Amino acid sequence: MVYLDNAATSWPKPESVYQTMDQFLRRCGGNPGRGGHSLALAAAEKIEETRLLLARLINAPEKERVIFTSNCTEALNLGLKGLLKSGDHVITDCIGHNSLVRPLKKLENQGVRVTRILPCSEDGFLSPEKVEKAIISETRLIVVTHASNVTGLIQPIDKYGAITKKHGLIFMVDAAQTAGTYPIDVQASNIDLLASSGHKGLFGPPGTGVLYLSDRVELEPLREGGTGIFSELEDQPQTLPYKYESGTLNTAGIAGLGAGIKFIFQEGREKIQSQVHFLREHLNRGLAQIPGVILYQPEGSLKQAAVVSFNLKGWEPAEVGAVLDQAFEVKVRTGLHCAPAAHKTLGTYPQGTIRISLGYFNTLKEVNFTLEAVSKIARAKAF
Ligand SMILES: Cc1ncc(COP(=O)(O)O)c(C=O)c1O
Repeated sequence: MVYLDNAATSWPKPESVYQTMDQFLRRCGGNPGRGGHSLALAAAEKIEETRLLLARLINAPEKERVIFTSNCTEALNLGLKGLLKSGDHVITDCIGHNSLVRPLKKLENQGVRVTRILPCSEDGFLSPEKVEKAIISETRLIVVTHASNVTGLIQPIDKYGAITKKHGLIFMVDAAQTAGTYPIDVQASNIDLLASSGHKGLFGPPGTGVLYLSDRVELEPLREGGTGIFSELEDQPQTLPYKYESGTLNTAGIAGLGAGIKFIFQEGREKIQSQVHFLREHLNRGLAQIPGVILYQPEGSLKQAAVVSFNLKGWEPAEVGAVLDQAFEVKVRTGLHCAPAAHKTLGTYPQGTIRISLGYFNTLKEVNFTLEAVSKIARAKAF
């Protein structure tokens, strides 16, 4: 079996993630902050360890600015809905995942103005000049997708960060496809809100996500409730991170996420990045040689995350995915990948693409096997 759907969720996880979660549930199964007994304290220690690891990974100035969420979708919802009010103006890209597109659409229906900027036809980037030109007096936020989950295109976030700083705006980045594999420094890039899944490049289990917020941002929480602190108050505590973390956390998941981030530090993020880039280059080259393959590839290898989209002439993407799965045991994703706007921009709407997303545990042998499988499928319906 070959798993090539790491943009959806990474699999397998490092062995230490499985072991940490198993041991955590057996040995530290208390509820952090909900009691002074040893099991609750042990759980709280693990949660704070993961928070610190995440803060180190993205260079957050304080670990309390790292909020645990259940996925990137919740992190994006918290950042957008917690910040924006009717009358505010937002500038965004046209390649976003529905977890960015839909909350923005809802906010737009409630009176927030949204400017969506088409990527440049030459390089696919969101032109910094166009972004700056779109700023008006009501502009509050610029929010961009760091890497597209359809084509892998990596946007130059530093440039948008510099613009937001110059104009005193808030800058938000969806780093679902980049965190853990690509360098992210929230302070150097002037990022005020960074949303990510914990279960993709950070190697945590599903049900983990994260939102970083800078000291320039004050958000309304999405929910109020038990926080384990200031229990005597009826009002929601304002202390970070508790203000945004009401209810019992996914403690075992967060423990696993901590093990995932430790794995990244141990292996070296650069090594992980160069391994997936090496495989992606090999895949791109191999696909380009198969007759009938249409590759949707950004120009320049440094601009592409380990996500490759293609189509096969004469085939529906879903058919190719089904044959890859059933005849070859190769697991890829087909269709719109929850990002219809990106496909409209790319010209692949509504059928979508076949998406191969590589992970650190994939091998050259697996990529070659997949290329051979795609070749066979292409030959089966020669045109
Ligand atoms: C770019 C991007 N943003 C957000 C998400 C949503 O992530 P999650 O499933 O953790 O909510 C995804 C998921 O694939 C994504 O690719």
